[in-house]
Amino acid sequence: MAEKKVTTKTFLEMKQKGEKIAVLTAYDYSTAKILDELGIDCILVGDSVNMVFYGYPNTLSITMDQMLYHAKAVSLAAKRALVIGDMPFLSYQTSVSDAVCNAGRFLKEGGAGGVKIEGGLEMIETVKKIIEAGIPVMGHIGLVPQSIHKFGKYSVQGKDKESQKYLLDSALALEKAGCFSIVLEAIPQELAKKISQSIKIPTIGIGAGPNCDGQVLVINDILGLYEEFKPKFARRYAELSKEIRKAVKNYFDDVKKGRFPSEKESF
Ligand code: KIV
Repeated sequence: MAEKKVTTKTFLEMKQKGEKIAVLTAYDYSTAKILDELGIDCILVGDSVNMVFYGYPNTLSITMDQMLYHAKAVSLAAKRALVIGDMPFLSYQTSVSDAVCNAGRFLKEGGAGGVKIEGGLEMIETVKKIIEAGIPVMGHIGLVPQSIHKFGKYSVQGKDKESQKYLLDSALALEKAGCFSIVLEAIPQELAKKISQSIKIPTIGIGAGPNCDGQVLVINDILGLYEEFKPKFARRYAELSKEIRKAVKNYFDDVKKGRFPSEKESF
């Protein structure tokens, strides 16, 4: 594990060395501190917060102010990891100047080291302007959850020739525009491999197979804390919802039966 602060340059060096990049989402100080201390390379303050923290069925309604609130908490904890702020729906699609201002807010107010933007070829001019303003950009193509109403459902992208061409062209254009990495979400592993081999910047996969240069997952998914649904690509490393249920049930029973507090827990 590199001791130094991870930067966008570190991302490129890691790809050159063949070192996999480990990314997780976090939305609060305590969780981000654990991730940072364990050596997670990059903490994404994802707009998935709208689903796993706020309980909405999709990512659309989260605002810039809410995202900044979470970014600030995560940035305070991240001494080593690169913190990336996820640009929420309508914070960058409305105009290039909105996009630059909102991206800048993640650095100025949120303490982040860069931003993530969903979209490929159609976002290139916006991405260029943000990067020209000195703000590092992580691209995001494939299943882009902010377009859920366009897709109709969360489904694997890049299955037909036309969509494969769009995704490869998008990755090449995002690299040319200056992105420091690209998230590939829910695409066939062979396509992810081809994209990863076609560009010099690292690809970060989520449901894109093992041949990406790094992987990202939502922290609540790996901890078993989000019970609404479990994506096929998410691996559960803990069952925290079950543990919380057990603990709360024990507390509830102890209070009801007069077993809590004990003499030792009283003054
Ligand atoms: O919002 C998010 O957490 C994301 C990742 C899952 C890539 O965009």
